[in-house]
Amino acid sequence: MSEGGWSPVTQVRVDVPGAEYTVSIGRGDVHSVGERLRALTTAKIAALVTDQTVGDRYALVVDTSLARQGFEVVSFTVPPGETSKNWSVAGELLESFAAHGLGRDSVVVALGGGVVGDLAGFVAATYLRGVDFYQVPTTLLAMVDSSVGGKTAVDLSAGKNLAGAFKQPLGVLVDPAVLDTLPEPEWQSGMAEVAKSAILDAGDFLEWIEANSAALVEHQPAAVEEAIRRSIEFKAGVVARDEKEEGPRECLNYGHTLGHALEKVLGYGTITHGSAVAEGIRFAARVAVQCAGALKAFAKRQDKLLDALGLEPIRRHVQPMEVLAAMRGDKKAREGAIRFVLASAPGEWRCEPVDDIIISQHLEAWAATKLARPAEDGEGE
Ligand SMILES: NC(=O)c1ccc[n+]([C@@H]2O[C@H](COP(=O)([O-])OP(=O)(O)OC[C@H]3O[C@@H](n4cnc5c(N)ncnc54)[C@H](O)[C@@H]3O)[C@@H](O)[C@H]2O)c1
Repeated sequence: MSEGGWSPVTQVRVDVPGAEYTVSIGRGDVHSVGERLRALTTAKIAALVTDQTVGDRYALVVDTSLARQGFEVVSFTVPPGETSKNWSVAGELLESFAAHGLGRDSVVVALGGGVVGDLAGFVAATYLRGVDFYQVPTTLLAMVDSSVGGKTAVDLSAGKNLAGAFKQPLGVLVDPAVLDTLPEPEWQSGMAEVAKSAILDAGDFLEWIEANSAALVEHQPAAVEEAIRRSIEFKAGVVARDEKEEGPRECLNYGHTLGHALEKVLGYGTITHGSAVAEGIRFAARVAVQCAGALKAFAKRQDKLLDALGLEPIRRHVQPMEVLAAMRGDKKAREGAIRFVLASAPGEWRCEPVDDIIISQHLEAWAATKLARPAEDGEGE
């Protein structure tokens, strides 16, 4: 990538007790990974973990920057996509770390999306019972969500993220310029998380994003950078209050109860994570009208925002009972009750179990707005 288009660096502090760190956001800053990391560690070796797609584009820039600061760089590349986030790839990385003789003077650098961040973080948390870890997220979703907060994991055959560890990074470097090469579906997945943050944020994020949705759809750099900063500030505030998801952090699942179930029922990869979460937000907003005293106008306001951000309703045939069964299988359904994050107004939410009968009624009403017969799937898409 070219070194043009730099912007001043903004910093957001993540105040997790005992493991505080800074997220720095700056266009063009991927060229400064070495300098930023050197300010945080005296480590001699940088274990650079990336996926093939990201590595082809950005590994050389990062490697060069790290080497300039005296790091000996050892690179590990995994295939792109969720299938790399598993036990066997994690094991191969751990074995490779050991084979290269990496010691405690090493720092793991994750360069990639949420898959690489979760995988490399999990490996950093377990290798030698924990070595330092630094995040360079390259998808919008990883910038605004997965790279901040210290959750790392791999998937098991029984489900996603079932083996993991909390491992806060030494720091996070966000360079919005790398999003220039991000495919549109990946962009949308991140944008759904941005919308979620704006709705749950107690400040003026919702008003701001409503006023700037067109600029975001056009990927205008200043708007994108501000959306990233506001989302990270929101997430940093949540995880500082609740590092281990024992309370407020549950709000980050807004839209994900239906979203995860839809991804499972319709088939991973056949629907983007962003469409699934956006659909889940629309659904939860309606449940909140019945169960949390939200005004119908607030549900409509969320629809309008998602439409404006290009996260339009899905048009697929869905069987309500299949979706209900998938919600039941989610690890976040505790003691049989399906839990929903319900927002009653901007910045006001609670997480609570919702009765199956209420969920079923809403699922029936929602499914009726979708295509009636499987044969019609794909129409107009
Ligand atoms: N730890 C957390 O708190 C947390 C939160 C949310 C999601 N996650 C996890 O994040 C993962 C999803 O992350 P994701 O959406 O970033 O997916 P991803 O890491 O698979 O990246 C998506 C695709 O985009 C490509 N890519 C990445 N950056 C690119 C760039 N700049 N240019 C071109 N291509 C690029 C990747 O190679 C990949 O093919 C899931 O496994 C999910 O469980 C974790």
